Amino acid sequence: DVLRLAALREGIRAVPDFPVPGVVFRDLTPLLADRAAFAACIEALASPWRGQDVQAVCGIESRGFIFGAALARELDAGFVPLRKPGKLPPPVVEVDYALEYGTDRLQARNDALRPGQRTLLIDDVLATGGTLCAARALVARLGGALLGAQVVVELDALRGRMRWGEGAPLRALLHF
Ligand code: PRP
Ligand code: MG
Repeated sequence: DVLRLAALREGIRAVPDFPVPGVVFRDLTPLLADRAAFAACIEALASPWRGQDVQAVCGIESRGFIFGAALARELDAGFVPLRKPGKLPPPVVEVDYALEYGTDRLQARNDALRPGQRTLLIDDVLATGGTLCAARALVARLGGALLGAQVVVELDALRGRMRWGEGAPLRALLHF
């Protein structure tokens, strides 16, 4: 297991000073392109949630879609996209959230989840936590029952976990 995680780590490329000076970008595309690593990644993401009767996996546009759709299949759940503004036809529900500069917004179809539907959130990276917390608020507004959240990578120094709090489990496969 530890060996497997080490192999996954090797599929993540560190790109210094992108998108701005001082930031180390974590590029997951080498992992995705390696069929064994991608399969192991999806298996590892799914494993703590098996047997919890996950009914819907909500993936966050855009990088959360890549892992989310595969994870939904692995867990035999449906996939629900949480989208950036202007992509979905009405009626939508939406949540605004703060970025370092300005704000962004996530939207979903207003009937995307059934009341009480057992829902798992997924994204590629947890940084400040703003995106994942907005997604959680959106699931609440849709009436879903949130089982927790899963990310591939958590950037520990940015303290997104503090922002998420302790009301629902948040799992990360890898930490940087
Ligand atoms: C990145 C990443 C996460 C989010 C994490 O997405 O994919 O979704 O930032 O940051 P936070 O924890 O500080 O909110 P981004 O908005 O850059 O868009 P993308 O997924 O479309 O590339
Ligand atoms: Mg994203």
